[in-house]
Amino acid sequence: MTERAPRTAAPWWRHAAIYQIYVRSFADGNGDGVGDLAGARDRLPYLRELGVDALWFTPWYVSPMADGGYDVADYRDIDPVFGTLAEAESLITEAHAQGLRVIVDLVPNHCSDRHPWFREALAGGPQAPARDRFWFMPGRGAHGELPPNDWQSYFGGPAWTRVVEADGTPGDWYLHMFAPQQPDLNWEHPAVRAEFEDILHFWLRRGVDGFRIDVAHGLAKKPGLPDVGPAPDPTDLPYQDVDDVHEVYRSWRKILDAYDGERTFVGEVWLPTAEQFARYLRPDELHSAFNFEILCAPWDARVLREVVERTLAAHAPVGAPPTWVLANHDTIRHVTRYGREDTSFDMSDKRLLDPSDTGLGRRRARAAALLTLALPGGVYVYQGDELGLPEVQDLPDELLQDPTFTRSGGTDRGRDGCRVPLPWTAEGPSLGFSPAGAAATPWLPQPADWDGLAVAAQQDDPDSVLNLYRTALSLRRTRLTRLPETLTWTESAADVLSFTRQDGFHCLTNLSPTPQPLPRDTEVVLASGPLEEDAEGRVTVPGDTTVWSWERGATS
Ligand code: GLC
Repeated sequence: MTERAPRTAAPWWRHAAIYQIYVRSFADGNGDGVGDLAGARDRLPYLRELGVDALWFTPWYVSPMADGGYDVADYRDIDPVFGTLAEAESLITEAHAQGLRVIVDLVPNHCSDRHPWFREALAGGPQAPARDRFWFMPGRGAHGELPPNDWQSYFGGPAWTRVVEADGTPGDWYLHMFAPQQPDLNWEHPAVRAEFEDILHFWLRRGVDGFRIDVAHGLAKKPGLPDVGPAPDPTDLPYQDVDDVHEVYRSWRKILDAYDGERTFVGEVWLPTAEQFARYLRPDELHSAFNFEILCAPWDARVLREVVERTLAAHAPVGAPPTWVLANHDTIRHVTRYGREDTSFDMSDKRLLDPSDTGLGRRRARAAALLTLALPGGVYVYQGDELGLPEVQDLPDELLQDPTFTRSGGTDRGRDGCRVPLPWTAEGPSLGFSPAGAAATPWLPQPADWDGLAVAAQQDDPDSVLNLYRTALSLRRTRLTRLPETLTWTESAADVLSFTRQDGFHCLTNLSPTPQPLPRDTEVVLASGPLEEDAEGRVTVPGDTTVWSWERGATS
């Protein structure tokens, strides 16, 4: 049994299960085929019953939707396709009434090219002070015809676009690390800092419990915006993890801490080393950050154990809780990933068309869910994880909306396959995504066989993925979240992950083909799949299965 450590009433964000709502694809309340706040409000009871602690809403602000809302034109209002500010305020109140906290997505690295600041910058001409809030620079070459430096956009192609001035002549270039419709803000400019501090207050006053910070590693740029050169060092790039960014989070933390109610920041921090990552989690910066290691790791016991160990070791010195993420709106759904020959994920090479045995993938996804829900720290559930949805790999080209598809010249099929609208009912043209009788079809088509994966189809099936999540989240809340944030590995066969936490809890994941004995003297409380019996009648854990068991007589 794990060594006893004192219990503390830890703040909620240290151990929360947070459900990610990609608003456009969650539930459509008004029948236009696009998910919205009305749809989300209707489904709050579903989310409460699922047993999550908090909801993270991807950007719901006014946006031309060049990047699914990550191109914000007004940070203080809701896009009409999603609803109104009054509805967002009601949603926050109603979520709280259901015991659910609300996290909103803050996009500070860039805004939309339709944001008033950028329009002003363009309209004002080359000398306009309004351009200083962005990164406008003259081009290189005899006539400024080459981009100011060699940076590439994360979405493919140069990170610079040249503007055409009012008189029709080609002018300066502006920086956009993502799509051209997403100009990067200049975080050296005091107005940019002041604006975002005000935006934080705006939403904090409306009761939000926290912010997910988009591209948290990217805000500051190296002075002079130097070239990366032909062989860049991934740990020292001029456009990410530049030290000045930490000052921004220190100032934000002070703002947040002045509000009551355990408000929190979670950073989207994609960086190559755990040391770089952990610096964002120092006690006066962000509370937590998405740990993408397990999302990228293959289904391999040795690698997964290393990921868990590395994660715990990286978080401990800064006192931050680890987080566990298997999927989100930017990645491949893990049912599909785990059913492939290569089960790892690489953002720069998503291999969207690789074949997958989704039956196998779903079995592993169930095991991975119980594994991550058993680990200390916070956990994220991306909408549809709880239904075992696969990636939709056969969306026709002409329906793809993600800018990465066109920007990469079609070599990257983009992120639409994990953003297909959820199936709620087993019948109807939109499987309950839109209200009955809606004229519009869902903004991306749902596969014909998703009727069997719908909430209604899984609701009363004790063996469904949905009910596995419900039971696991409930047990996690009542028996695991108050435990100290430690674990102890126990001896096991190769390709088996086995650990204990306090109060006699054991978690065993068998990644080998050989059935494994249960941890000794324990009683099974939950398993991700059917268990077996050996020749002597003893219960065994088959491959690709996780089991939660408690020592006999253990109390919570
Ligand atoms: C983050 C978001 C992604 C978006 C990008 C640019 O990585 O998760 O969806 O495209 O930032 O805002």
